[in-house]
Amino acid sequence: MISLPKQVRLVEMGPRDGLQNEAGEVPTAVKLELIERLGNAGLTAIEATAFVSPKWIPQMADHTEVLEGIRRKPGVSYPVLTPNLKGFEAALAAGAKEVAIFGAASELFSRKNINCSIAESLERFRPVTEAAAKAGVKVRGYVSCVLACPYKGEIAPAKVAEVAEALFDMGCYEVSLGDTIGAGTPMKTRAMLEAVGRLVPVEKLAGHYHDTYGQALANIYASLEMGVATFDSSVAGLGGCPYAAGASGNVATEDVLYMLQGLGIETGVDLDAIVETGEWICTILKREPGSKAGRAIAAKRKKAA
Ligand code: HMG
Ligand code: MG
Repeated sequence: MISLPKQVRLVEMGPRDGLQNEAGEVPTAVKLELIERLGNAGLTAIEATAFVSPKWIPQMADHTEVLEGIRRKPGVSYPVLTPNLKGFEAALAAGAKEVAIFGAASELFSRKNINCSIAESLERFRPVTEAAAKAGVKVRGYVSCVLACPYKGEIAPAKVAEVAEALFDMGCYEVSLGDTIGAGTPMKTRAMLEAVGRLVPVEKLAGHYHDTYGQALANIYASLEMGVATFDSSVAGLGGCPYAAGASGNVATEDVLYMLQGLGIETGVDLDAIVETGEWICTILKREPGSKAGRAIAAKRKKAA
């Protein structure tokens, strides 16, 4: 019998991946309340914002106000994206204790997303990891397009492994593997993890699966079977990437929690509190919560009231 991890760590993406694609402006105060509610629900890692160019991602233009405004809870980390040294220095000045660098396994996506080749991106990330090491800041790494690319289609698992290894060797404490457009299926996920796992220890890997084709939970289950015990998810399934047209949000935190509870896997996160938070933020954003578990739990609660 395959044994699954007994405990899973969730990295919440709502305030960053979730809100970076919103058409309307989300007030800084709403972002801060979202981060507060997510922390109160028991999440211990909440990606707060991105120190990227406001010309590229205007939704994250208030990054300094967001990071400085967080009422930090002990034991909770609030990583922020930093694509280059400029972003890192601004994040450090605003009090970042953890940052994330983000590369890709697709040349074309790298070009569209961060305006450079994969090799150039790795050269840009190196000074960030060096400066972070000096400042005692933790660095997480992302590889995008691990199962497919919105521009090129198929991606070779060996390419994903090569970029993941480069980020790990540079000092990333964990590498998060992004199915940016949510096109992957479990067999592909397995093959990709087998390739990456040969170069980076599986306990240093995280799954970051978007749910565009409804495959994210299946891909998480396949990853659990391979020993992966950290997953990125987004409250109410918010999100997408502005440079991956049509891609929907991350797998919903509510859906992941519901499945993990059913598997008897501990997360330390209160599912009901996440459902409430999902309903709250979706009312503000004027959209339907994108979590099936969230909608079912909320409907049951309303019926019982
Ligand atoms: P560039 O235009 O090549 O940069 O952009 P540059 O160095 O030539 O500078 C151009 C201008 O940008 C200059 O300003 C710089 O000062 C400014 P100007 O002189 O024109 O006024 N600039 C910055 N401003 C603020 N913060 C910075 C910064 N750096 C330069 N850090 C750059 C290169 C990387 C900056 C740009 O392409 C960018 O910001 N890209 C971000 C794209 C992004 O955020 N995408 C979404 C996040 S990734 C994602 O969602 C995937 C993930 O979820 C995993 C998955 O799902 O796969 C992580
Ligand atoms: Mg993403």
